[in-house]
Amino acid sequence: MKKVVGYAHLKPAGEGYDLMYLYVAPEYRRRGIAKEIMNGLINFAEKRGKNITLEVRKSNCNAIDLYTGLGFKKISERKRYYSDGEDAWIMCLTELR
Ligand SMILES: CC(C)(COP(=O)(O)OP(=O)(O)OC[C@H]1O[C@@H](n2cnc3c(N)ncnc32)[C@H](O)[C@@H]1OP(=O)(O)O)[C@@H](O)C(=O)NCCC(=O)NCCS
Repeated sequence: MKKVVGYAHLKPAGEGYDLMYLYVAPEYRRRGIAKEIMNGLINFAEKRGKNITLEVRKSNCNAIDLYTGLGFKKISERKRYYSDGEDAWIMCLTELR
């Protein structure tokens, strides 16, 4: 039986796409699943000549490392973006592959 161990949601936004969610079940982490999901989404966007923008908690170093490794760069920040008051980095792909 197949089971869902990770998911993402990419939403059209303006001229490109916004990454709304990315999640991998805790027992399946550190196996490259998020990287594979993200590479699929990047290919999808780039085939259409579009960029992906995302927001990430400034404290979420694991996700920031993942996105940086995939070619995303911090382009600005959003103060108190999250309901608990934490700031977000806004990141996007700086070079289409
Ligand atoms: C962030 C998250 C999606 C990563 O999923 P994952 O499948 O474990 O990630 P991968 O195995 O593909 O890791 C890819 C890279 O991300 C970074 N990374 C991911 N988890 C990490 C960890 N626990 N510690 C350090 N680096 C980590 C590393 O750079 C890693 O590359 P490496 O394995 O070559 O070192 C997962 O931890 C998660 O679902 N977290 C909760 C939800 C969340 O924070 N989503 C992002 C919201 S913006």
